[in-house]
Amino acid sequence: MLVSAKEMLNKAREGKYAVGQFNINNLEWTKSVLLTAQELKSPVILGVSEGASKYMVGYKTIAAMVKGMLEELEITVPVALHLDHGSYGGCLKCVEAGFSSVMFDGSHYPIEENVAKTTELVKICKEKGLSLEAEVGSIGGEEDGVIGMGECADPNECKAVADLGIDFLAAGIGNIHGKYPANWPGLSFETLEAIKEKVGDMPLVLHGGTGIPADMIKRAISLGVAKINVNTECQLAFAAATREYIEAGKDQQGKGYDPRKLLAPGAEAIKATVKEKMELFGSVGKA
Ligand code: 13P
Repeated sequence: MLVSAKEMLNKAREGKYAVGQFNINNLEWTKSVLLTAQELKSPVILGVSEGASKYMVGYKTIAAMVKGMLEELEITVPVALHLDHGSYGGCLKCVEAGFSSVMFDGSHYPIEENVAKTTELVKICKEKGLSLEAEVGSIGGEEDGVIGMGECADPNECKAVADLGIDFLAAGIGNIHGKYPANWPGLSFETLEAIKEKVGDMPLVLHGGTGIPADMIKRAISLGVAKINVNTECQLAFAAATREYIEAGKDQQGKGYDPRKLLAPGAEAIKATVKEKMELFGSVGKA
């Protein structure tokens, strides 16, 4: 069932668990995430970055693929199809293409411009029934060639953006996309608490879910995080399983070169990663 992410995240915040956003890269990825969510009776968010959209031949292709899968796989759990770190123009394209949720990443603009553009998108998303995520304080690491420095968001700016009528807020608390360096000081719970105090009931989003220790994840959820984004960890699991298959020479045995066989271990590895995260986030059985 394709739905906006608003209701599932409000429920998660109330129930003190988080819904995973798993970024998708192709058909196998999408199928693995959807089947796992259905099996575990968990709500789920499919994340699509602008780069991944280019790779998957655009938002329309993706929306059609996801809608087809929901029907053909008989997926009954709530699923949101969400643009990840969208530009203003990207958000408009996703509204057109039939996405159910978008993130506008205006964190690299001066706060006034972030506010102005977010305000426009609030109006459009409300009209069309999509949920809207906004970002304050850029998330560290590299994603699609954009390098953020891993800021801690200003709680007053968070409040200003939260009050615009968005549905959930991504706020930098020292989190980073991709692998965390050995000297990473950890999440800034001080910042998270200060933001939570300002924004009240607004569900908060934790980007860079890969490699954050379980105890920090749980603490973040207890402080109002209701959506956690995971991308790199599925990629690493997929790559390791595919490498193992090739290194064992399985592609050279029988019809092991058949993509349906070659990509199967990677697809299973994604399922296992998604399952592990859903269990950690507490979303199992919440659909
Ligand atoms: P990771 O790749 O670190 O899991 O981050 C994913 C993310 O935050 C997507 O927006």
